[in-house]
Amino acid sequence: MEFGPDIQKVPKGFLCKLCDVKTPNEPSLDAHLKGKKHQHLCRLRAKREAQQESTVYVSGFQPDTSAGALEEYFQQFGPVAEVIMDKERGLYALVEFAETAGTKATLAQLQHCLNGLKLRVKPRERKNFKLASKERQNQTKPHISLEKLSFNLCLASSVNEQMQKMVEIFQLNENESKARQLLLDVLQEVFIEFLPDCQIVPFGSSVNTFGVHSCDLDLVLDLENTKAFQNHNRKCEQQGGDTQSEGGRSEDSILSDIDLTTASQDELLELVATILRKCTPGVFKVHAVNSARLPVVKFSHRQLNLQGDITINNRLAVRNTRFLQLCSGLDSRVRPLVYSVRFWAKQKQIAGNLSGGGPLLNNYALTLLVLFYLQSLSPPVLPSVEQLKEMACEEEQCVIDGWDCTFPSQPFRVPPSKNTDDLCTLLFGFFTYYSTLDFPGSVISLRAGRVLPITDFLSREEEMPDAAESSDATRQKTIRPKLGPVNILDPFELNHNVAGNLTERTHRNLRRELCEAEKYCRSSRYQRKSSKGKSWGIAKLFAPLLEGQDSAGKVPEISIAFRADTLTDSFRAELSSAGETFRVLWFKKVCSALEVVFKEILKCTPSDQVEILQDQAREEEVNNNNESLDSSSDQLAGPSGIKRPLSVEEGPSCSSSSPQGKRMKLEGSADRPEASHWIWTQRHLVWAGRRKIRRILLKTSDETSKPEGGCSSIESRVTQYIIENDPDPKEELKFSMDAVVAGSDDCTKAVLKFKATSDPAGHFQDFYHFLDCFLPKMVETLLAKSE
Ligand code: UTP
Repeated sequence: MEFGPDIQKVPKGFLCKLCDVKTPNEPSLDAHLKGKKHQHLCRLRAKREAQQESTVYVSGFQPDTSAGALEEYFQQFGPVAEVIMDKERGLYALVEFAETAGTKATLAQLQHCLNGLKLRVKPRERKNFKLASKERQNQTKPHISLEKLSFNLCLASSVNEQMQKMVEIFQLNENESKARQLLLDVLQEVFIEFLPDCQIVPFGSSVNTFGVHSCDLDLVLDLENTKAFQNHNRKCEQQGGDTQSEGGRSEDSILSDIDLTTASQDELLELVATILRKCTPGVFKVHAVNSARLPVVKFSHRQLNLQGDITINNRLAVRNTRFLQLCSGLDSRVRPLVYSVRFWAKQKQIAGNLSGGGPLLNNYALTLLVLFYLQSLSPPVLPSVEQLKEMACEEEQCVIDGWDCTFPSQPFRVPPSKNTDDLCTLLFGFFTYYSTLDFPGSVISLRAGRVLPITDFLSREEEMPDAAESSDATRQKTIRPKLGPVNILDPFELNHNVAGNLTERTHRNLRRELCEAEKYCRSSRYQRKSSKGKSWGIAKLFAPLLEGQDSAGKVPEISIAFRADTLTDSFRAELSSAGETFRVLWFKKVCSALEVVFKEILKCTPSDQVEILQDQAREEEVNNNNESLDSSSDQLAGPSGIKRPLSVEEGPSCSSSSPQGKRMKLEGSADRPEASHWIWTQRHLVWAGRRKIRRILLKTSDETSKPEGGCSSIESRVTQYIIENDPDPKEELKFSMDAVVAGSDDCTKAVLKFKATSDPAGHFQDFYHFLDCFLPKMVETLLAKSE
C-alpha cells in the first residue's frame, strides 16, 4: 500500500497526521482514508490552500481606510472575492481574489499606492492546515503548567492546604467574572431589542462556584415573557388597537416574523444565531448545534476571549445550577473537593468532553458524583435532595417541566453537618467509595441520597422509584433513564442519566483510574509531605501515568460487562423480578452465549479427554464443594457440551437449554452463581484474516454490513470459510476457560480467564488477543436477541 505524506508509520500501526487518528493496521487505515472525516478534512484543506493562493496581505494604508476602498483599488488586478480587515487595530487587510491570476498580477507590480501612501503587499503567509479540535485544545490550554502547579502544591504543608490551594489557583478571578458579566449585559441589551422582555440567564460553571479560568459561559435564553408579550400584541392587533407596547417597543423586528408559540426549535436556534452573528459586537464563530440533547448555539467573543453557549428555555439547568451553588454554600469542604476531583479527572482524561459531546463524564456529572459521595457518608456532609425539599419554605416550592425542584434558597435553612472529616480523608474516601462501587449494577440517586438497585429500572411497566413524590408522575412513568455502564440520575429530571453518554471503554478507564488513585492514597506519599523534596499529596495524584504502570501486575482476563440497555424487554423484566439475584440469571445467559460462541460460531470442539476429565471433576466436586476456582482449573476440566446445543439464531437461554448439564459448576450461592469451567480445542487459525473474509462474504450476501461480532450468522460463515480453506490443519490448540461473575462490591460483569493447556505451535497469544476484541461484542449480540 502506498502512503501519502499525511500517513506516518508508528510502532503500533499508522498515524494519520491530518486527522490525528491512529489505526492499528492497513485495512483500518484504508477504511479511515475512505471515511467521511478524512475526506472532509482533505476537501477543507484543499479549499484553504486555494484561498491562501488567491489572497494577498496588505498593510501601510491609513487606519480609517475602508474595505470598499481597498476592494476598489485591487479590482484593477482581477475580480476581488472578499476583503477582510484587521478589525481591532486596522493595520492590515487580507484581499482575496476570485482567481489566483489576481494575486499574480498584484504581486507582479512592484509598487502600490493608495491615498498617497505606499502600500506593502505580500503573498499571504502559508499556514499549515490544523484540525479545528486542535485549535480548540490550544484555546483551552491551562493557565498554569502541570510542573508549576505541582511545584506550588508541594510547598504546602498538608493535603488540606494543597486542596485549598486548588481553589485559589483555579477559581475565576474578579476580572474574569466582570468580563462575563459585561458580555451578559451586552447580550441582554441586544436580545431584548428583538425579543422584548426576554431574559438571558447564566448557568453552569461561570456561576455555580466551580468555574475555572477559561471555562465556557453557558447561557439560557428565557422566552416565556416574550411569548406573553407577543400574545398580548397579537390580541391588541386583532382588536384593531395600537400594536406598540406600553414601553414603546416597536413590533417591527426579527420577532414579528416568528410566532414563538409555534416556532420549531430549529427556527429559534437560527434566530438566536442570526442575532449573535449580525448584531452582537465582538461575537464570531457562531454556529447552531441542533443534534445535541439540548440544542444550542455556540459562539466566541474576540475581545473577551470567551466561548459561550446559548440554549433556549432551559430552566432546569438554571435551577440545578442553583442547587450546586447551594451545596457549595452548605459546607466549606465542597469546593476544594470538587476542584481537586475535577482536575484529577481532567488529567486522567476521564472527564471534560471537548465542545460538549463525547464519551467522557461531563463536569456536571462529575460534580454530582462528588456531592453524592458527601451525601453517602456517615454522618453525611450533605443532605439528600429529598431532605432538602423538606427544609424549604412555601415560597421556595418550585416545579419545572413537571419535575419537583424544591430546595431552600439559602444555606442557613440547612443544619450544619456533624461530619468532621478533613479534606485529605474525604478525597481518599471518594476514591475508595467509587473504586468499589458496582457502577453498572447501580443507579446513583442524589434525590434519595443512596444507590438504588438497577433492577428497579429494568422493567418498563413499573413506576420509577423516585417518581412517587413528583407532581407529574404520569410523564415520569413512561420515560426511563437511558441505562449504561454508569448511571447517575439527575437530582430533578429523574429520567435523565447524566452519565448516559459513557461507553464501556470510558467506564473501564474511570474504574482503573479510581483504583489507581485509591491505591496511591493509601501510601505515605499521599498523606505526608516529602522531606526529600519529592512530589507528594495531590501533586503526585495528578501526575500522568508512567509508561506500563496501568498494565503492570494485571492478570490477563476478558470481561463481559452487564449492559442493561442492550437486553430485550422481556429479559429485562425477568431480571427485574429476580431482584438481588439478577446477576445469577444474567450470568447463566452469558454462559449459554459463551457456549454458542465457542461451539457454533468459532467451531471449537470439546477436548478429547472430556469424558475422563468430567468424571474426575464430578468426583472432585462431590469431595470438595468449596474447591477454589484457581486451584481447580487444571483438574476440574469439564466438557464444553450442553444438553441441547443452541442454534446460532436462537441465541442463549437459561431455562430448558441450561448449559450446566455438562459444564462444570464451581462454588455457588443464591445471589452468586457457580463458576464455570470449559476446555476447548481448536485446530484452525479461525482468528486470522477474519476481517478480510467477512468483507468478501458480505459482498456476495444480502446481509448488511455489521461490525466484528455484530452478527452471529456471518461470523459462523467466516469461521466455516477459514476451516474449508485450511485443508492442512495446524497443531491443535487446547485451552481452558473459567468464568465467574462479579458484582455488588465490584462492577457487574462476567470475568473469563483463559489458559493454554496445550499450545505446541504458540498460537495462544494471537487467539487470546482476537478473543479480547471479539468475545464481548459477540456475546452482547447474542444476549440482545435472547428471550
Ligand atoms: P457542564 O458539564 O459543562 O458543567 O454543564 P460545568 O460546571 O459548566 O463545567 P465546564 O463548563 O465544563 O467547565 C453545564 C451545565 O449544564 C447543565 C448543568 O446546569 C450544568 O451546570 N447540565 C449539564 C444539565 O442540566 N444536565 C446535564 O446532563 C449536563
